[in-house]
Amino acid sequence: MTLPDIAIFVDCADFSSIRKALALPWTGGFTTNPSLVSQAGVADYTAYARKVLALVPSLPVSFEVLSNTVDGMEREARVIHAWGGNVYVKIPVIDPAGNSMGGLIKKLSREGIPLNVTCVFTPEQAKIAADALDATSPAYVSVFAGRIADVGIDPLPIVEECRDILKRLPKAELIWASTREVYNIWQAADAGCDIITAPLAMVAKLRDAGKDLTELSRDAVNVFMKDIAQAGVTFGSY
Ligand code: G3P
Repeated sequence: MTLPDIAIFVDCADFSSIRKALALPWTGGFTTNPSLVSQAGVADYTAYARKVLALVPSLPVSFEVLSNTVDGMEREARVIHAWGGNVYVKIPVIDPAGNSMGGLIKKLSREGIPLNVTCVFTPEQAKIAADALDATSPAYVSVFAGRIADVGIDPLPIVEECRDILKRLPKAELIWASTREVYNIWQAADAGCDIITAPLAMVAKLRDAGKDLTELSRDAVNVFMKDIAQAGVTFGSY
């Protein structure tokens, strides 16, 4: 099956996933976030990032700032930027108190620092990014489509509106982030996203893309039978 025209990034932080992702033909880059970095047991962010970048020297890799203050984020953004030419600095569109990070995004983007404006959930937040990003500086804008869907809201119209808002920025690429199922890759491409970032397990599932549905049906029945046989479940006495 032909895959849609969209770059696929793997959203992960642990080295085992990074190595496995590099072996997949679809991996076009990596994103991380502070939760994934914590779950990977990282203690020294700089040492960790150096190891990641030794494994991934040229594909784009996004590392997020960890501070919750504007000054701290700015300081960390400069450190992260110095880690490598393929690094995008993830800046949340708002701070934990809900204040816009537009000012900081503007300052860093004007300096040509590649940014990944993250945690975008609304078109208003995409507008903060669009107004702040420099037209000549590379940038990603990550819309958390899956978390929007998690609360029962259709992410598609939101993603499409964000796409329209970002249209005037030639170097800004829209990321469908927070991916929940393989079919999101097709939805993201149809919505005009440039990139989708998904967990390793989901990207690996692309091996089955376009698999015959009757074959899938037989697989399902066979797995059910195998599982029950292995568990030794019987009807007992009835
Ligand atoms: O790239 C965004 C992502 O890291 C968040 O994903 O699955 O935690 O909603 P998730």
